[in-house]
Amino acid sequence: MSRPESGSGARVTRVSGPVVRASGMTGSLMYEVVRVGELGLVGEVVRQNGDTATVQVYEDTSMLKPGASVERTGEPLSLWLGPGLIGNIYDGIQRPLPELFRKGGAWIRRGERADPLDLSRRWEFTPLLKAGEAVTEGRAAGLVKETPLVEHKVMLPPGVSGTVRSAVPAGSYTLNDALAVIDTPAGPAEIKMLQKWPVRLPRPARERLRVSQPLVTGQRVIDTFFPLGKGGCACIPGGFGTGKTITQHQLAKWSDAGIIIFIGCGERGNEMTEVLREFPELKDPRTGRPLMERTILIANTSNMPVAAREVSIYTGITMAEYYRDMGFDVAVFADSTSRWAEALREMASRLEEMPAEEGFPASLPSRLAQFYERGGAVATLGGDRGSVSIVGAVSPPGGDFSEPVTQHTRRFTRVFWSLDTELANARHYPSINWLRSYSDYLEDVGEAWEKAAPGWRALRDEAMAALQREEHFRQIARLVGPDSLPDGQRLFLFTGGLLRDGFLAQSAFDEADAYCPLDKQAALLGAILAFHRGAAELIKNGVALAELSALPCAAELVRAKTAYAGVKELAPLEARVKEELAGLAKRKSAEAAA
Ligand SMILES: Nc1ncnc2c1ncn2[C@@H]1O[C@H](COP(=O)(O)OP(=O)(O)O)[C@@H](O)[C@H]1O
Ligand SMILES: [Mg+2]
Repeated sequence: MSRPESGSGARVTRVSGPVVRASGMTGSLMYEVVRVGELGLVGEVVRQNGDTATVQVYEDTSMLKPGASVERTGEPLSLWLGPGLIGNIYDGIQRPLPELFRKGGAWIRRGERADPLDLSRRWEFTPLLKAGEAVTEGRAAGLVKETPLVEHKVMLPPGVSGTVRSAVPAGSYTLNDALAVIDTPAGPAEIKMLQKWPVRLPRPARERLRVSQPLVTGQRVIDTFFPLGKGGCACIPGGFGTGKTITQHQLAKWSDAGIIIFIGCGERGNEMTEVLREFPELKDPRTGRPLMERTILIANTSNMPVAAREVSIYTGITMAEYYRDMGFDVAVFADSTSRWAEALREMASRLEEMPAEEGFPASLPSRLAQFYERGGAVATLGGDRGSVSIVGAVSPPGGDFSEPVTQHTRRFTRVFWSLDTELANARHYPSINWLRSYSDYLEDVGEAWEKAAPGWRALRDEAMAALQREEHFRQIARLVGPDSLPDGQRLFLFTGGLLRDGFLAQSAFDEADAYCPLDKQAALLGAILAFHRGAAELIKNGVALAELSALPCAAELVRAKTAYAGVKELAPLEARVKEELAGLAKRKSAEAAA
């Protein structure tokens, strides 16, 4: 973009909340960043018409008056990318919140500035380039140990390919030091740790790949029944208090992603404060290191400017793509996309756009699509495999899933974890309704899943079928009473109970059960289903359900998830189930013979 002439005399002509109209803006560009007023509030041109531009301002505009100056920058809103992102906490336009709080106390002062990354800090850099070597875009120029958990690749930016003219030796450098010079067809290019990237522009990759690995979360109802693939997108809708936030925290904590990006988007301030307080104390379960050593938090609470909430989603996803490009599996959580959509709605009404469904702008579906399309598994420019998985919480007003945000999100995500108010009221957590949820990745991740736990898919389908029959017989029982069902049918109610309590329910707050490895998930399910199959057989031969449900193993199946640490301890349970059933069968036939 060309630099605008200085002193162009652009002025504010109208202020409507976060939306500002300015004159003297001839030649300004869509999405160009401007500084508004004496404080230099950050804004972005969102509409351009001759001399007039409409600007959305990311900071509080309450003191702004017509006549205030507008200064153009000629640049699109861009992020700083480089070592130091991990562990940081940013607002929607990448202002580092800890730094701002340090400067301004509990309040972020308007127009407050702080660099997103520390330019004075030195990082140990291990170079990987040799002078004279031919190199292409995306290639790692060197490595920086960003945190004990993250090896940061300093990459040649997209578009930079050529021959290495010079490269620095190993040593400690700052973000702005030239680490290598590449002779490119367009002239020499300096490689630094610091890169900038426009926040609304997806970062390029060489190729999109098929999703093939499950994102292992340790949450049984998710991994076993409705798995998300690495590079996949999931929607988690639920009314107030059904567990959207806790579920996302569980996934952020336990899933086997290399990098976690949590976007707290428009939720109440105190909820985000909890995240900000809790996350830095969490430990990575695999390494015992602080979770923040692989996490970036982006916070835009409901009391922060609404325009910054709109952009916070893109800030998060751009950072995710940057780490994806290094070959990481990145998981992005957005809590909640409904609050984000409400920001779109508010901005659209200030811009006097024609409202569509429920006042949302007509662009809502395409905006959602653009967000979720940035998820995916890719071959990176540098030749690695990386992925961005996205989990978007949706909080439909009144828990009504027919509203536009839920409905459109559903179109662009292949996993739907439907949170259920009834289950939550019954304190069944996670309150993911197994009959109304789905995952479209079962085939994609099947091979990898089977490798971790052979027989997983058959067990999963058998359990799902049993749960569907449970629901069917439950409805009948509601009409005629459970006692009028034959034992063969009542068995499904009993097995359903085992599956609910012994498998589907999993407390986030129970240390022994908060994380369940894949092989343990399959072993648990295997034991419950072995009971079900054996019991069905015995019932056919005249054994009463009451005798079966009284077997010690039946109670053990409910306790097993917390009583046995891993698959090794759990493995004998299935054999015990079979033994007890065989023992009962023997007693019954002896009784019959006597
Ligand atoms: N997996 C879980 N394990 C245990 N309790 C849970 C779980 N999920 C939700 N809860 C309970 O439900 C409450 C509300 O959950 P929360 O995630 O804050 O709801 P939402 O974000 O949907 O409004 C939590 O405070 C917690 O008591
Ligand atoms: Mg919440």
